Amino acid sequence: MRRMLVAGNWKLNGTLSTIEELVNGIKQGLDSVSGNCDVAVCPPALYLQHVQQLAAGSRLLLGAQNVCDQDEGAYTGEISAAMLNEFGCRYAIVGHSERRSLYGESDELVARRYAAAQRKGIIPILCVGELLEEREAGQTESVVGRQLDAVLASQGVDSFAKAVIAYEPVWAIGTGKTATPEQAQDVHAFIRDKLAALNKTVAESVVIQYGGSVKGANAADLFSKQDIDGGLIGGASLQAEEFLKICQAAG
Ligand code: PGA
Repeated sequence: MRRMLVAGNWKLNGTLSTIEELVNGIKQGLDSVSGNCDVAVCPPALYLQHVQQLAAGSRLLLGAQNVCDQDEGAYTGEISAAMLNEFGCRYAIVGHSERRSLYGESDELVARRYAAAQRKGIIPILCVGELLEEREAGQTESVVGRQLDAVLASQGVDSFAKAVIAYEPVWAIGTGKTATPEQAQDVHAFIRDKLAALNKTVAESVVIQYGGSVKGANAADLFSKQDIDGGLIGGASLQAEEFLKICQAAG
């Protein structure tokens, strides 16, 4: 059976004090979350060390919101996988739609970031998902397929044994408009089938999260679907109580 993974993507939010309150609140509720569900938070990079210290001794895992595609050198503003390792990061999100659309990250750059994370033993959370106009034009599978192909072409299907995929329809991110469990399941099944055509074992074991306006109230329905293995949570991960409700729904 696959494990579940619920990860909070805090984006550009938080201060030293609000983060302390949030992490302490999450820690207090972790006993109510099933042992089959891994729970992670992805703070802004500057706060990773703070969160690492606050989470020490608990089962709360740590992730970064991005990672440089290069190992070291003249790359101003970037943070390497080796640096993330020093602060206990188990995961790094790559290819979030905000990075793709606001910062122009191409499929190829995302694939290189994915590879850089894996070179240092960090599990990339590869985000894929279509825009509203792409969904309306019936292009969901071709877009998600293209995003996956960029990674498959350079890293191969076996790399997904040490990766997580997050299906995040762009029209559902931060909009309050969640994909229905059926809409999400269809795309998750498409992703798993695509990998299964190349390697059945890897396809069966890879964790595929759903992301996009997940809340305490809709998480259980989404997570009940066969191919939905947890969630990548934005807005609702900024409140401990709401985030814990989502984690509990993954039990
Ligand atoms: P949201 O964000 O939960 O606020 O829609 C999800 C994400 O961007 O990962």
